[in-house]
Amino acid sequence: MTSWIQRLAPPGAASVAGSRRAQMARAALARVTTPLLPDDYLHLANPLWSARELRGKVVSVTTETADSATIVIRPGWGFSFDYSAGQYIGIGVLLHGRWTWRSYSLTSVPDSSHGDKTVAITVKAMPEGYLSSHLVNGLVPGTVVRLAAPSGEFVLPEPLPPRLLLATAGSGITPIMSMLRTLRRRGERSDIKVIHSAPTADDVLFAEELESMAAEGLIDLTLRLTRESGKLSVDDLAAVCPDFLERQTWACGPGGFLDMLTAAYGDDDRLEQLHIERFALERGASDAQGGVITFGTPDRQVEADGATTLLEAGEQAGVLMPFGCRMGICQSCVVMLDKGAVRDLRTGAEHIAGERVQTCVTAAAGDCTLDV
Ligand SMILES: Cc1cc2nc3c(=O)[nH]c(=O)nc-3n(C[C@H](O)[C@H](O)[C@H](O)COP(=O)(O)OP(=O)(O)OC[C@H]3O[C@@H](n4cnc5c(N)ncnc54)[C@H](O)[C@@H]3O)c2cc1C
Ligand code: FES
Repeated sequence: MTSWIQRLAPPGAASVAGSRRAQMARAALARVTTPLLPDDYLHLANPLWSARELRGKVVSVTTETADSATIVIRPGWGFSFDYSAGQYIGIGVLLHGRWTWRSYSLTSVPDSSHGDKTVAITVKAMPEGYLSSHLVNGLVPGTVVRLAAPSGEFVLPEPLPPRLLLATAGSGITPIMSMLRTLRRRGERSDIKVIHSAPTADDVLFAEELESMAAEGLIDLTLRLTRESGKLSVDDLAAVCPDFLERQTWACGPGGFLDMLTAAYGDDDRLEQLHIERFALERGASDAQGGVITFGTPDRQVEADGATTLLEAGEQAGVLMPFGCRMGICQSCVVMLDKGAVRDLRTGAEHIAGERVQTCVTAAAGDCTLDV
C-alpha cells in the first residue's frame, strides 16, 4: 500500500517527506487509522489537513500590474517554512475538473518567526497559457490548492559575495524579490546592482518597493523600459554595470534575455559566475514524431503529438505523474521507458527502451510505454 501511495503521490510528496518529524507523524497516524487512510479522517476535520500531500488555502489575490497578481497562500499541516529565498513551489489548482500543476518562485521571505505563516507567489498571466490567466484573473480567496514543497538551487550563498549583479526581465524579478526582501529584513548588506527590464513603467513589478530599496541604499537600481530603449544588449550591460564580469550574477527572465547574459559572460570560467533560473523549457530541437503513450497499463493510454511532453500528456490523461521543476533541472520526473522511444525536446537526443527519461523535457517518438 505504501509504495502505491508513494508512486502515485502528488508531485513534491518526496520533498514533503523531507521533514523527518512530519514523516514520522504521518507514519504513526497511518498506523492508528488503518485500514482507512488518515486523510479520510483529517479531511473531515479540516480541508487543509492531509497526511500525504501539502495543501494550502488562498488568502488573497492582489493585482500588481495589468497582467499580474500576487497570491498569498496559507499552507496547511506539514509545510516547512525553512525554505531559501529564490526557491520555487509547485501549485496544483483544480481547473475544469483536472488538477493542473505549475511551478512559481516564492516572493515571500522564508521566515515564519514574525508569526506570518503564509507564502506568496507573483504570477504573470500568459495570453495563451492554461493556468496563469486563471491564477491572475479567476482565483478567489478561500480556494484550497495543492502544494509541492519549496525546492531549487537558485539561491544566494552565505556569506554574500562582496559584489552582486541581479539581472532580471519581466516576471523574472520574482525569485530576486524574495532574495532582496530577505536581505532587507535581515539587515544584510553587500554591493548589489539590480538591472530590471520591463516593456513600460506600468509593467514593472514591485516598482515602488524596488525604488524604496534603492533609496535606502540596499541596491543600486537600473530600470530598463524596453519599449522606449530597446532590449538590453551586452554593450548596454557594460555601460550600466562596467564591472559586471567581476560580479557574481543571478539572472532570471525570458530565454533571449538569458542568452544575452550567457553571451556576455563568454567563456566557461566566467559562466560559473552566472547563475540562471529559467521559467520556460528551451525547446532547441524540432518536435518529436508523437505517438500513443502507455502509462504503465494498457487502460492508461493517450495519443500525443511530438510537441507535448510525456509529463503534460500524462497529466492530460489524468495520470498522477511525479514532477518538480518541469524544466529538466531537478530529475524529480524521471521514469523508466519500458518500450519504444522518446526525444529530448531541448537537444533532439533520442532515448530508447531501458533508459530512464525525464518526462518534463521529452516527447513520444512513436508509440511508447512508461513505467508509471
Ligand atoms: C522554477 C520556475 C519558477 C517559475 N516562477 C514563475 C513566477 O514566479 N511567475 C510566473 O509568472 N511564472 C513563473 N514560472 C512559469 C510558470 O510555471 C508557468 O509556466 C507560466 O505561468 C505559464 O503557465 P500557463 O499554464 O499559463 O501556460 P502553459 O499552458 O503551460 O503554456 C506555456 C507557454 O506556452 C504558451 N502557449 C500555450 N498554449 C499556446 C498556444 N496554443 N499557442 C501559442 N502559445 C501557447 C503560453 O503563452 C505560455 O507561454 C516559473 C517556472 C518555473 C519552471
Ligand atoms: S520535473 Fe524537474 S527535471 Fe523534470
